[in-house]
Amino acid sequence: MRKIAALLLLLVFINAEAQYNPYRYSISKKAEVKNGAVVSAHPLASKVGVAILKKGGNAFDATIATQLALAVVYPGAGNIGGGGFLVAVTAKNEQIALDYREKAPAAASRDMYLDKDGNAQTNLSQNGHLASGVPGTVAGLFSTHKYAKLPFTQLIQPAIDLAEKGFAITEAEANNLNNSMGDFVRYNTKSNALIKYGGWKAGDTLIQKELAATLKRIRDFGQKGFYEGETAKLIVAEMKRGGGLITLADLKNYQTAKREAMVSQYKGYTIVGMPLVSSGGILIQQMMGMVENRNIAQYGFHSPEAVQLMIEIERRAFADRAEFLGDRDFVKVPVKKLTSPEYLRQRMADYDATKPGSSKTTTHGNISPESEETTHLSVCDQFGNAVSVTTTLNGNYGSRTVVAGAGFLLNNEMDDFSIKPGVPNMYGALGTEANAIAANKRMLSSMTPTIVLKDGKPYLVLGSPGGTTIPTQVYQVLINTLEFNLSLEDAVWKPRFHHQWLPDVVYVERNFPADTRDKLKAMGYEIVVRGNIGRFEAIKITRNASSVLTIEAVADNRGDDHAEGY
Ligand code: DON
Repeated sequence: MRKIAALLLLLVFINAEAQYNPYRYSISKKAEVKNGAVVSAHPLASKVGVAILKKGGNAFDATIATQLALAVVYPGAGNIGGGGFLVAVTAKNEQIALDYREKAPAAASRDMYLDKDGNAQTNLSQNGHLASGVPGTVAGLFSTHKYAKLPFTQLIQPAIDLAEKGFAITEAEANNLNNSMGDFVRYNTKSNALIKYGGWKAGDTLIQKELAATLKRIRDFGQKGFYEGETAKLIVAEMKRGGGLITLADLKNYQTAKREAMVSQYKGYTIVGMPLVSSGGILIQQMMGMVENRNIAQYGFHSPEAVQLMIEIERRAFADRAEFLGDRDFVKVPVKKLTSPEYLRQRMADYDATKPGSSKTTTHGNISPESEETTHLSVCDQFGNAVSVTTTLNGNYGSRTVVAGAGFLLNNEMDDFSIKPGVPNMYGALGTEANAIAANKRMLSSMTPTIVLKDGKPYLVLGSPGGTTIPTQVYQVLINTLEFNLSLEDAVWKPRFHHQWLPDVVYVERNFPADTRDKLKAMGYEIVVRGNIGRFEAIKITRNASSVLTIEAVADNRGDDHAEGY
């Protein structure tokens, strides 16, 4: 009898959403549709988003529902214990940039990760309780909701169901969980749903009851269901047990920052990007600005000439990132100068197509003081809204610390600060005073949610995880589409490369064309072959003369990423 009741309950769960079965689903890399699409890191999250679009929600509704679902089905990076950035363009052409990046707790200080001899202790900025900044995601979701149509209670329900009743995990998730199992035990004060001593395997059901209870508090009490009351108390109790700094006041004081989007022109297209405290928008403006007048298309896609030019541009942009960029609420950043055409022309004055540049001689530009495991989702709807969100816990599963009783992972975002000048963070990024730790300051990010407009309407919705490789990935997909006219799947799926000033090496994916790689090596570049660079989610929207939409949604072929539409 009990078994039959359980089966009936299961059928209700599956039928209620009608669009997907959380215990049986497959991955689809491409959708060509007319009305709306969601591309995200997990099939169930993309399906949750499209179900919301079909119920009359707009791209903001779908973004919220997808993000909340990712917090359940993609715990390595989907989150409510992390932060992120949203770039959107509405049907009325309003350009929106929401910064819900984590903040340093009020008790944080510049040298908090240095031992008594002044040595940087990256183990503390990267793992466990002290690595966490004050989470921003839930505040960000409620700020996003101002542009949505459906009640928040409806948008969060699929995530609650997935957490409470469980879902089948993919093989990649099983492997990732197993690889982090030791850390889950080491960095937690109590056991949690991610720990399975016998090990996880593909198809196992992951049930997260405590997370479901937290999501219900958010459903019932709104933003306060996370930043105050029971959830806040559980976070602070976890901090006390594990030596972290986040207090009730830190949580209560957290707010999304609504910023002005970074807007630039490129050969008739408008690029809408994320401003500081993400470095993404500035880096994209710099890199596109440096390439614009060089007719890169003449060299051909992945030719040594084109790749070398792009590498040298990446070198220069990242040298500026290390020197100048940080939270503008705390430090002056000369954004106007860094992105001005004259400055970018000067930056390329010493470019030599016959030999490799050097990060010893090519450092940051000269500026006189001015009078300044992440996951991405791309969404669009039938109304003309487009939303690009990158959100993260920083490393895979963040600090690996689950808030006991609340069932969600906390970020290890404090490592994105420059914990000591000259000491690289986990992505090899360097920084100076501009990105030093200070109480309540936001740490510099590389996340680069980006929207390109053509004739004033959303044309490309782009973004990816991958730490410092994110801006160079977005840069490459922009050049692949706008200059080399690649199809969207080629633009996303073809191998990528990356240079970030220091270390002075060119990273290439394993399947990067060997002849170009060898030619660059022969010129004197140090090449390092590495695993996948990012997990890119892209949408291209075209309109015919009668404004009928054709939407191409492409999920990266580098992971479980899934494109869904209708
Ligand atoms: O904000 C940043 O730049 C990093 N915390 C992003 C980390 C990331 O992309 C991890 N994904 N692989």
